[in-house]
Amino acid sequence: MFAINDSLRGRDFISIHDFSREEIAYMLEVGAELKRMQKKGIPHQCLAGKTLGMIFQKSSTRTRVAFEVGMYQLGGHALFLSPRDIQIGRGESVPDTARVLSRMLDGIMIRTFAHEEVLELAKWADIPVINGLTDLLHPTQVIGDLMTIKEHKGELKGLKCAYIGDGNNMAHSLLFGGAKVGMDVVIAAPQGYEPDEKVMQLALEDAKETGANLWVVKDPLAAAKDADIIYTDVWASMGQEEEAAEKEQQFLQYQVNSQLMSVAKKDAIVLHCLPAKRGKEITDEVMDGPQSKVFDEAENRLHAHKAIMAVTM
Ligand code: CP
Ligand code: NVA
Repeated sequence: MFAINDSLRGRDFISIHDFSREEIAYMLEVGAELKRMQKKGIPHQCLAGKTLGMIFQKSSTRTRVAFEVGMYQLGGHALFLSPRDIQIGRGESVPDTARVLSRMLDGIMIRTFAHEEVLELAKWADIPVINGLTDLLHPTQVIGDLMTIKEHKGELKGLKCAYIGDGNNMAHSLLFGGAKVGMDVVIAAPQGYEPDEKVMQLALEDAKETGANLWVVKDPLAAAKDADIIYTDVWASMGQEEEAAEKEQQFLQYQVNSQLMSVAKKDAIVLHCLPAKRGKEITDEVMDGPQSKVFDEAENRLHAHKAIMAVTM
């Protein structure tokens, strides 16, 4: 098996911003290599005997399956920890939970609402903590997305990615990802739904090193013009169910449809982190069309998550 170096061993994976561009490039390389090995049936059980605890305070299909199957393929074991069953759901504190889990596990993946909860867990845990999505960020998704873009475009630097929709956790992690790999990212969002100012400032700082351009516009067609990648996500994220009806009205112009695709580059690809609300942020025609790579993208969560675990745990 190819040797995974120890440079990131023991590190938390909470935000792409926390890693250097070389470190992000290394994770992408490991992901591609683990994918190649898995496809060829080459054993790659580099986490044999290790265990990952997975705390999910929100629903998940892709993230849960990718971490659980990924851990199995790496020779380890993953435990699904539902807040309905574990004591955190009855009020046991995050610091106490972190200290207990650190005595038994080798890593913790957590998906939750407040980003601060992940930071607190990481502060108290002495094993790596992986952010499986918060209201602020979705970094594991973007490692898989960058792998997918690289597979289809051959490179990342200098590409233009247009994200159409809510300036949410996905938009934030894409900004951080683009900044680290030198990919331009433009966010088209309605007024009041732009990405977080602080995230934008940090990403712009990172982008100085790679030359990536990051900007925000209102006009979705202006964003999509000559884009290499069109990216979208749901208009109402998990936890925003009550705002969904109102947001639907505000986001009507932000649908990824054939009209929007017509201004992007001819060979542009379409990504969506999924789950999608078909007929809302994306039409069936685009999602099932030849430019859509959303299922390659979903598959790459498996390989990306394996890479994240293999380098940190
Ligand atoms: N994209 C993503 O994180 O999907 P799940 O919510 O199904 O994990
Ligand atoms: N923005 C979405 C992403 C789901 C993977 C959400 O937080 O619900």
